[in-house]
Amino acid sequence: MTEKKSLINPDYRQKVEIARDFLEKKFPYFPKIVMILGTGLSGAAEEIEKDLVIPYQEIPHFPRSTVESHKGQLVVGKLCGVPICAFQGRFHFYEGYSTKELTFPLRVLSLLGTKFLIISNAAGGLNLSFSPGDLMLISDHINLIPDNPLRGENYDEWGPRFPDLSEAYSKRLRHLARAVAEEIPLREGVYVAVPGPSLETPAETRFLRLIGADAVGMSTVPEVIVAKHAGMEILGISVIANVNDPDNFSPILLEDVIANAQKAEKKLVGLVKRFLKAIPKDWLV
Ligand code: HPA
Repeated sequence: MTEKKSLINPDYRQKVEIARDFLEKKFPYFPKIVMILGTGLSGAAEEIEKDLVIPYQEIPHFPRSTVESHKGQLVVGKLCGVPICAFQGRFHFYEGYSTKELTFPLRVLSLLGTKFLIISNAAGGLNLSFSPGDLMLISDHINLIPDNPLRGENYDEWGPRFPDLSEAYSKRLRHLARAVAEEIPLREGVYVAVPGPSLETPAETRFLRLIGADAVGMSTVPEVIVAKHAGMEILGISVIANVNDPDNFSPILLEDVIANAQKAEKKLVGLVKRFLKAIPKDWLV
């Protein structure tokens, strides 16, 4: 009997399964938590007690980072004694990847049993009560990237054709993050993903505020869609790197974005460590 092949993404599933089989043989254990160490969380990498480090280029069919400074490796280890796997280096739509391509690594990990995604990003603040350096728990998102990683054939074993996103960002994980935040002030709001790489004009900024967004960035939403499709619970945190006031717009300088994100890194890494320590063990079985 001939196998039914997708006409739209004929090799995608096969490539995912090849990468999964490769990693399944390498992993010393299978963590329930996967972290994407985006801007603001990369400092966590140094603190992971690493049991396995695999450069992306050694994993079959993984995308390659086009940004020189990005490490591009998968780490399995323990943070605060909790088994995790972490992507050091992520991919963006603006680099030229489709959202299906850039979420390939996360799809592979979901097939190895991850149940929780902790994801961070640097974002521009649209809510004028925010300040650079603030942390924002993502409560919801708006996707303005003109692509969806689930477009094309659906594999029912991976998740439903029309996944529900009524609670894309888990309420109980946000609640737990708030409970452990203590002196770290936490904002909460809606993240809008734009394709980039050009930054927003003042008119676009006004539009994004009008449609209900509190922060804008160029990542996270594709990964969250795939994670949710795969049945995972998600904690998303934005580091507010700059604040964009449409009526008093100043240039958005990459140096400022990076400097402010770095300033917030310690807070975010501290918060995530406390969060990991506080996760009830029975959630991780
Ligand atoms: N817009 C989009 N992406 C961003 C911004 C911004 O102002 N700041 C950091 N990432």
